[in-house]
Amino acid sequence: MSEDLWPPHTLDDPEADAPRSAASGSVTAGSVTLIIPTYNESANVGELLRRLRASIPDELPCEVLFVDDSTDDTPAVIEKAAGDCPFPVSVLHRESPDGGLGGAVVEGVKRAGSDWIVVMDADLQHPPHLVPELVGEGERTGADLVVASRYLPGGSRAGLAGSYRVAVSRGATWLAKGLFPRALRGISDPMSGFFAMRRSAVTADALKPLGYKILLELAVRCRPQRRAEVPFVFQDRFAGESKSTAREGLRFLTHLAALRSASPLARMVGFGLIGLTGFVPNLVALWLLTHAGMQYLAAEVLANQAGVLWNFLLIETLLFRDRRRHRHWADRIGRFALLANADLLLRIPLIALFVGRFGLEVLPATALALVTTFVLRFAATEALVYLPRGPRAVPTARS
Ligand code: GDD
Ligand code: MN
Repeated sequence: MSEDLWPPHTLDDPEADAPRSAASGSVTAGSVTLIIPTYNESANVGELLRRLRASIPDELPCEVLFVDDSTDDTPAVIEKAAGDCPFPVSVLHRESPDGGLGGAVVEGVKRAGSDWIVVMDADLQHPPHLVPELVGEGERTGADLVVASRYLPGGSRAGLAGSYRVAVSRGATWLAKGLFPRALRGISDPMSGFFAMRRSAVTADALKPLGYKILLELAVRCRPQRRAEVPFVFQDRFAGESKSTAREGLRFLTHLAALRSASPLARMVGFGLIGLTGFVPNLVALWLLTHAGMQYLAAEVLANQAGVLWNFLLIETLLFRDRRRHRHWADRIGRFALLANADLLLRIPLIALFVGRFGLEVLPATALALVTTFVLRFAATEALVYLPRGPRAVPTARS
């Protein structure tokens, strides 16, 4: 990734942090890195910095790091406005916006050496005056994570445009909380993009963010032990338009699946469920091919490929999204197809047996054979998954 950072920043230089912390004296809040992701926010960043200046007390050691994927002049506008700020302001401009909003935040987290990280949007939907309050609440309660929530008394989602977006946001919250009851206990607004987290509670290497829901990612993968919340009123955008699209919704579902399948047991269940859905394209293709006049055994072989392809695509996007890099996709699909077709060797004689010996119709015989070989394949997968392996290199989410 090619990136561009100005001014030469000092966030992960321990020497640079030490004097500020030492000089903080009466400060109880610790130092703060404010991470602000920006994508074409040139009309907002000036006002944002102005309000931050008014909100951050002198005794709170703070630096602002914009992680920018803009194609407009946002970095230049920030640079100009930064001159008036009493705290350091830097911009990390990314040429390739990996992981979108979430990826940008993680880039910022990796560079932060402060006690606290605060993540907020650049469009003033997150009130800047709450920044000291979030950190203060964390210090007061000993929490590792303090979330600004729209769903607490005193909070509201006033600025969420339209009943459609409100319903989507509410549905997404229920879905996430239903899938992660433990990781999200005590967090009423896991979709919030405004929160403070202790740097010591973040394991940046464990993060594989996808899209908008960075708080969800942090809460599930890092499991901050103590959580607190502060109510906030989600404001109208100061200027410009939301960058969230329908595609973001799809990414959210993929993200949920990736988070949920991080444990081997959950992955196995997911593997089984995906395998089950694969029966549908398999049977549909079989119906099409036999009705087109193909001999049924030849049709079985071809139809199986439809199921294999379907399973491969789902398993790739939902289960092993983060384990794809070490092999080329052609290599992966080749291996996958080889394994998946291996049970055809068993299935075809089984189907021939059901049809020839027991007089079953082709479709029910195939369905029965699919179930039989699926159970066998599942048992084989289980044996392979639980075969003793070396110590795991990559930490996965604890369940
Ligand atoms: N670096 C970077 N890269 N920043 C991005 C990107 C990206 O690809 N996409 C969006 N941003 C920045 C925007 O510039 C803005 O500062 C912030 O991320 C939020 O983007 P919006 O487009 O304003 O999002 P939203 O208002 O629809 O969603 C916000 O509210 C949701 C709750 O309803 C975000 O805070 C979400 O995280 C939050 O879930
Ligand atoms: Mn916004």
